[in-house]
Amino acid sequence: MIDLTTSYMGLKLKNPLVVSSCGLTKTVRGVQKCAEAGAGAIVLKSLFEEQITAELRELTRHVDSVGHTEALEYLHGYGEALGPREYLQLVHDAKQAVAVPIIASINCVSDARWADYARQLAAAGADALEVNIGFLPNSAGQTGAAVEDRYARILHAVRTQVDLPVALKVGPYISSFANLAARLGNDRMAGTPFTVGWCGPGENDREITWRGADALVLFNRFYSFDIDVDTLQLAAGNPYSSSEEIHLPLRWISLLAGRVSCDLAAATGIHNGRDVVKQLLAGATVTQLCSTLYRNGLGRIETILDQLQQWMRAHDFERPDDFRGRLSQARSEHPDDYERLQYIKALVGRE
Ligand SMILES: Cc1cc2nc3c(=O)[nH]c(=O)nc-3n(C[C@H](O)[C@H](O)[C@H](O)COP(=O)(O)O)c2cc1C
Repeated sequence: MIDLTTSYMGLKLKNPLVVSSCGLTKTVRGVQKCAEAGAGAIVLKSLFEEQITAELRELTRHVDSVGHTEALEYLHGYGEALGPREYLQLVHDAKQAVAVPIIASINCVSDARWADYARQLAAAGADALEVNIGFLPNSAGQTGAAVEDRYARILHAVRTQVDLPVALKVGPYISSFANLAARLGNDRMAGTPFTVGWCGPGENDREITWRGADALVLFNRFYSFDIDVDTLQLAAGNPYSSSEEIHLPLRWISLLAGRVSCDLAAATGIHNGRDVVKQLLAGATVTQLCSTLYRNGLGRIETILDQLQQWMRAHDFERPDDFRGRLSQARSEHPDDYERLQYIKALVGRE
């Protein structure tokens, strides 16, 4: 008897397939369809940090011009308390409409005042929050350490506002990703200073209680950059991934599983049951689906669940835990040669 139930950030999922944040999850009807199609959990379409702060700016614009400080302070508080109401309504209504966990999503680039809004998401009924750190570290003036501190500051800002489980959806453009993952994932092994001096200017002179993320989502897929040689203009690449894109997240899931103290959600390039199996063998807690649902429709969830169960039957596994992480580096007999050996095998004899 196959049992696909999975614990993700302390939430109980009936299976490890999560619909990732996208247009399919931006309405209550969309969320219902995903749930009816068999998803284990649903991440709502992201609200952008700028949407929250723009609403605040709009409210304060007039008062700013006459310089009425007291009114301005009031409106700052008011604007944030208000927040983008439609999104709160979506969280609330989605929660009422389906039984599967609903994960709200914020796409942010800073730890600015939007973090307050996380409290309202919790009050609206979100089961968890996924924070998509959507900035590309492309400035020569920014050191790797500064970029990593920014991730930590964002997490810390959210943590101080809410008790909800928090997942961080991060990009792969980090120089020492294992170190950052250990730091964000609650792990003290990296030897980074967790108390003072790294959590932002206001935090330098006092101890902070650090709580890492409940999950890391690997990886955020930034829009692909392209050039149109006919029009000689910049263009956006394909918004949908292919199965080929699984290799980067697969590598990092396999390297981090069992080594960071948080759950790992595999994202990008998961298109069929075999892709899900690969990620679970590497050590993923759950797998997120997006492009394959756009390409094939929501019926794909059922197909992938069937493929996963067929594979489990063929290999005599009853639960994902029976094989999760079996091929991770942490469980390898030769962890030091874990990847090197595959690399050599792949290249030797290919002239
Ligand atoms: C049309 C579309 C809209 C998306 N919107 C969001 C979003 O609002 N927030 C977010 O975190 N990711 C968003 N994504 C990214 C997906 O959640 C997902 O991480 C990415 O597509 C990689 O997964 P895939 O290979 O299964 O497509 C979007 C993707 C697509 C195709």
